[in-house]
Amino acid sequence: MSGNKFDAPAGISPLDQEKVLARPHPRKEGPLKVTGQATYAYEYSAEPELQGAAYGYLVGAGVARGQVKSIDTGAAEAMPGVLLVLTHGNMPQQGESETPVPQEDGATPQMPDPEVDYYHQAVAFVVAETFEQARAAAEALVIEYADQTPEGDYVLAEVMEDAEKAGSDEESKDQRVGDFAGAFGRADVQLDVTYTTPDQSHAMLEPHASLAVWDEAGEALTLYTSNQMVHWVQRGVAKTLQLQPSDVHIVSRYIGGGFGSKLMFYGDAVLSAVAARKLGRPVKCALTRPQIFNHTSHRPATIQRIRLGTDGDGRIHAIGHDSYSGNLPGGSAETASHQTKLLYAGENRLIRQRLSELHLPPGGSMRAPGEAVGMLALECAVDELAEKLEMDPIELRVLNDIGYDPEKGPQRPFSSRRLVDCLQRGAEAFGWERRSAQPGSVRDGEWLVGLGVASAFRSNQVKPSGATVRLEKGGKVTVETQMTDIGTGSYTILGQTAAEMLGVRLEDVEVRLGDSDFPKSSGSGGSWGANSAGTGVYYAADELRSKIAKAAGYDPKKAVFKDGEVWEDNKCTLLGVVAAKAPEPLEATVNATFGDLDKQYAQASFGAHFCEVGVHRVTGEIRVRRMLSVAAAGRIFNPVTARSQCLGGMTMGIGAALMEELHVDDHLGLFINHDLAEYHVPVHADIPDLDVIFLEELDDKSSPLKGKGVGELGICGVGAAVANAVYNASGVRIRNYPLTVDKVL
Ligand code: MOS
Repeated sequence: MSGNKFDAPAGISPLDQEKVLARPHPRKEGPLKVTGQATYAYEYSAEPELQGAAYGYLVGAGVARGQVKSIDTGAAEAMPGVLLVLTHGNMPQQGESETPVPQEDGATPQMPDPEVDYYHQAVAFVVAETFEQARAAAEALVIEYADQTPEGDYVLAEVMEDAEKAGSDEESKDQRVGDFAGAFGRADVQLDVTYTTPDQSHAMLEPHASLAVWDEAGEALTLYTSNQMVHWVQRGVAKTLQLQPSDVHIVSRYIGGGFGSKLMFYGDAVLSAVAARKLGRPVKCALTRPQIFNHTSHRPATIQRIRLGTDGDGRIHAIGHDSYSGNLPGGSAETASHQTKLLYAGENRLIRQRLSELHLPPGGSMRAPGEAVGMLALECAVDELAEKLEMDPIELRVLNDIGYDPEKGPQRPFSSRRLVDCLQRGAEAFGWERRSAQPGSVRDGEWLVGLGVASAFRSNQVKPSGATVRLEKGGKVTVETQMTDIGTGSYTILGQTAAEMLGVRLEDVEVRLGDSDFPKSSGSGGSWGANSAGTGVYYAADELRSKIAKAAGYDPKKAVFKDGEVWEDNKCTLLGVVAAKAPEPLEATVNATFGDLDKQYAQASFGAHFCEVGVHRVTGEIRVRRMLSVAAAGRIFNPVTARSQCLGGMTMGIGAALMEELHVDDHLGLFINHDLAEYHVPVHADIPDLDVIFLEELDDKSSPLKGKGVGELGICGVGAAVANAVYNASGVRIRNYPLTVDKVL
């Protein structure tokens, strides 16, 4: 495998022709999904070695803290069809972890001992011939606990003071510039407000599911599992089961949504693997919906204090953002103040995040971890500041725009930043001039109508990513990479990238993903997938172009690829002919890495969200009436799939603003609304016409594709635009999300 490092601004490349890339292609795998032909992890059955898979049923702890004192498995084991009951008593030796929170680089042991760290942590795993038998036997287990559930350390507000004293690692991440306290004290206009956001659940469609099968010797594992990060789960499962990563084969071809919950792996994966090895037959497990809510991760609640100090003209001179969140020991903080380090000007800055110990289930990444909830607070605070200043909220944002990292100064400019254009273009398209600055002054029958705006910001990240691109004998092209498609469009845009580079049609490219046998890839997370995995495909295709040109007898520097042919001046050869004549397979495998352009340039995607709501004068009901997002995220590789990402983000942002909330039972230490009947997410009837505009942008410092992340940008700021519209409609400012009817009235 060769390597290719992206460490200087991208020059002109064949991608700039945009014959296939940046065009609106429907999803390659869409027809397979809607006709039920896409096989998900739990569904594999055709392969001979998968015949007769047994069903595993996970049993979660019934207390939030303590120890399992005893498990009587007798009755369960005697039930029809039961093959095995796993408990801490008969688990094999596993790799150790210092924290019950799954880590990207570590073992995630299940039931290594009788300790219970959180509610619905696995305490048993029942395997039977059918799902129903396994579930029935699980209910017949008699489990006694030494219950050490304490009162009170499940609620963030009750533990946040610990964080102040802690002097934790978090302090090293503070942004401290100038004299915040002095400047804030002297400011002509001061705003000091605290917002809260609740725990949230990813609520993806497909549950976490795994199907494990071992080779005959019981030495090598194949794990079909719904996971965003093939190389993380491969390494993590290997560490957990004390295997070599090369003895763990991961298959994750289709994923019914992840939103960050499937960055890590859980009991379904580890316990299916352990049971399958013991039984010498395949075992599969899908978590039930209630288990997903407490056994897997969630987005942690935050308490955020924002302080803004300006001069009389609205120029920010002091900007402060403190974010508090909690997690199990060893877990990480929700980085909700992160964007405030980069989004607005201000020469005196104090930006911090603090972490408390909280014994809820593990907190983890959920779509745009940090910004998604950070912007809920910051962008409402900016709206509050605009009102104090009697300024238009867009004008205030434009005034405080900054083209470089406010901490490092002009020597660290943004690689690209069209925030102001997004705000202004959106204002025009949405009819912002019709907004009344006076809250509660616009009526439509029984509805009070208001408009709201928010900026959008999501950091742009890139990760090493490899790919193989091959020219097949018939002239078709195959792309292989460990990259996953979590519903985002990876199959399609990676096919477009290869097609553009090799001058073929998209339908002539087969894209194969989600298999650890392929080159290691960035995986899907943090909005880095498209740009990173695309870069791997780009470099591999570039190397393949040289090989094809040489095989055709042309000068690689002069070769042009178009219409399924390779050209030099006025000579050309069909790619299929080149492949047929080549003595060796024409393929290239390249691992793309990234240099330090992200240190030289601050990198983020930008946007602006506009929302119109109606608030019912009598009932307080809030209806979103229309919404527009404008995004500037570098080259948009496919306007259809990118638009879908934005629509999904906007829908999720509306949910965050108006309904999503995990309710903490502070006696039992669990989330009690653990199903989709009681954890509310928007349904079609909640979502009106949504519109998306992409601004033209090529970011040549981000990747050779000149794109930036877009998948998470769509949610960042949305909820604040909704909340600001609710305030504009009703005059009611709600600082604790979600904005439910009881808070409006
Ligand atoms: Mo994302 S929350 O990194 O899948």
